[in-house]
Amino acid sequence: MRVDVFTQLPHAFGWLTEQRPLASVLGTELELRLLNYRDTTPLRGGQVDDDPYGGGAGMVLRVDVVDAALEAAYGDVRPARVVALTPQGRQLEQELVEELALEPELALLSSRFEGFDERIVEHLATDAVSIGPYVLSGGELPAMVLLDAIARRLPGALAEGSGELESFSAHLDGGLEYPHYTRPAAYRGWDVPDVLLSGDHARIERWRREQSRARSVA
Ligand code: ADE
Repeated sequence: MRVDVFTQLPHAFGWLTEQRPLASVLGTELELRLLNYRDTTPLRGGQVDDDPYGGGAGMVLRVDVVDAALEAAYGDVRPARVVALTPQGRQLEQELVEELALEPELALLSSRFEGFDERIVEHLATDAVSIGPYVLSGGELPAMVLLDAIARRLPGALAEGSGELESFSAHLDGGLEYPHYTRPAAYRGWDVPDVLLSGDHARIERWRREQSRARSVA
């Protein structure tokens, strides 16, 4: 799939693209474009935001700037899903991640400070998504959260045996994964559950299923 991130801070995405799962799928299952609103703004001096009508603190990303960025990237044929990252959006859940990961093309719109001119959300985006009920200083971290969650769902994203099956079954259970432990088996009285040391794979599998189920009903 191709994901286009529209941002004022393309360099902020550098570290994410160097890590798994992004790094594993870049150039194969995932094509990522980082597009700076400043490169296509119709305003002088690279201006992209402006004072809010009616007054108030902070700057607002302009609708004409975002429209010009989308026009430059796509012309009139825009991706079926154009997602604006905003605390007012629908809260991100795994179900939406799975849905977006199936799109051939996805556009993510992020903004800084006070956010979008409302007409961007109303007329240019198809979806408004929040990563949680709190306010961050911009949409870059939310866009990275969404990108990471999507990249994990693409073929080849996860190291062999490191979670593809677990994540998949966890998704089917509608819940979180079972608890994991590694060495040392005993540490300050915090012991690893005996079942995991038993070598009895059927018992271990049963225990893991029970644990996953218990976590999913919370
Ligand atoms: N921009 C600022 N806060 C946000 C949030 N919680 N989710 C998505 N975008 C945001």
